[in-house]
Amino acid sequence: MQQTAQLALHENVQFIYELVLARMELEAAGVSFAVHENLRGFSTNGGLDRDHIVHRSAYVKSLQLAEQEPEFTDYHVIQQYNQTQSINQYLTHWFYPYKGKFHPQMIRALLGIIGLEPGDVVLDPFIGSGTTAVEAQLLGIDCVGVDVSPLCCLISRVKTQSWEHLAQIEDASDYVAPCADHAHQQRLFRSADDRELPEGPVRDFFDLAEMIARSDNSRRRRDPVEAFVYNRDRMLASVRDHVEVKQRLGLKFGEVDIREGDSRALDLADESVDGIVTSPPYSIALNYVRNDEHALEAMGFDLDELSDGFIGVRGAGKRRFELYDEDMHVAAGEMARVLRPGAMAAVVIGNVTYNGEEIDTTAMFTHACEDAGLVLERCVDKIIFGLYNVMQREYILLLRKP
Ligand SMILES: C[S@@+](CC[C@H](N)C(=O)[O-])C[C@H]1O[C@@H](n2cnc3c(N)ncnc32)[C@H](O)[C@@H]1O
Repeated sequence: MQQTAQLALHENVQFIYELVLARMELEAAGVSFAVHENLRGFSTNGGLDRDHIVHRSAYVKSLQLAEQEPEFTDYHVIQQYNQTQSINQYLTHWFYPYKGKFHPQMIRALLGIIGLEPGDVVLDPFIGSGTTAVEAQLLGIDCVGVDVSPLCCLISRVKTQSWEHLAQIEDASDYVAPCADHAHQQRLFRSADDRELPEGPVRDFFDLAEMIARSDNSRRRRDPVEAFVYNRDRMLASVRDHVEVKQRLGLKFGEVDIREGDSRALDLADESVDGIVTSPPYSIALNYVRNDEHALEAMGFDLDELSDGFIGVRGAGKRRFELYDEDMHVAAGEMARVLRPGAMAAVVIGNVTYNGEEIDTTAMFTHACEDAGLVLERCVDKIIFGLYNVMQREYILLLRKP
């Protein structure tokens, strides 16, 4: 007899696109179902794989088999390990206030929807603050993340590697002390015996704590040393959470490989990745260099030199869109080259407004992907209204390499 179950959605599922993705997650898992009248859950009527729903689902909060107590999914448990006020900034996701972060729940769902399994390799050629890497790692999927920004690479590394070095980071916390005279020092912290920390995961952790403190200082005028100590301690608590959730749920983490590089010239073999989940720069929507200038400068980079490699930042006026189009064609070609045949790419992209006119960057990128030989299978509208009725018009493109 077919096992049936009631599946309840998480309370934070609020938008139409999330319900669409919740359905697609179940379809990808081969479950047939009916949607509850209030749209807050599903009744399964065939193809139920209990383990898959419990361990993989992003949108299902609990599963109840007939005459049994509801059982929470892994994702519900994971979300509880949160040192912030924001429901989606659990574990290490909150490290650094990076603008333009993905919603992690959506990424967990997309990894399943494009059919990735533990041991597969997902590529994010615009890894940004590492959301894809954190979510893939939790699911046992290996991840290669590429970004032109050294700050993004630092953030992504610290979020995904610190759990393995917790003891060393804790030991170092005792001797990494804020500089008494930080106004005249390049760095906010030093080791108590005045030695530089060697390069590696421990150093990365404290470097990022410093970059978060600098950001707090430039955006909120917080005292940098106080902010450093505060963020360092909160980051440590999140890394302890990471270790604990891994043990509690018996997770086998995927391998993460973060590379500073250019998505227009990927250092990857042809047909070497099993899927892509990414969000490219939306043309002039955000100047990623200016936005993080305080941190990039503190890391010793020349902003003008760095800008040359950033897609969407090159050029001025309308010329910027032509350059963007050219760059996205090259990047789409690289994505198509490294994907294995039959594999899928999920791309989150939005339109931008220039001089009051909406520029269809989504269509530009879709054409670039089609020119590169990828086939658009589905486009999910991700239109949301923020505070003050500010509309964000974004789309999730699901493309396949034939
Ligand atoms: C929309 S953001 C990605 C945000 C990411 N999904 C997250 O959750 O944080 C786009 C990223 O593309 C990166 N980028 C811009 N030009 C690039 C290039 N030529 N190669 C690789 N990355 C690039 C930017 O540094 C930025 O981090």
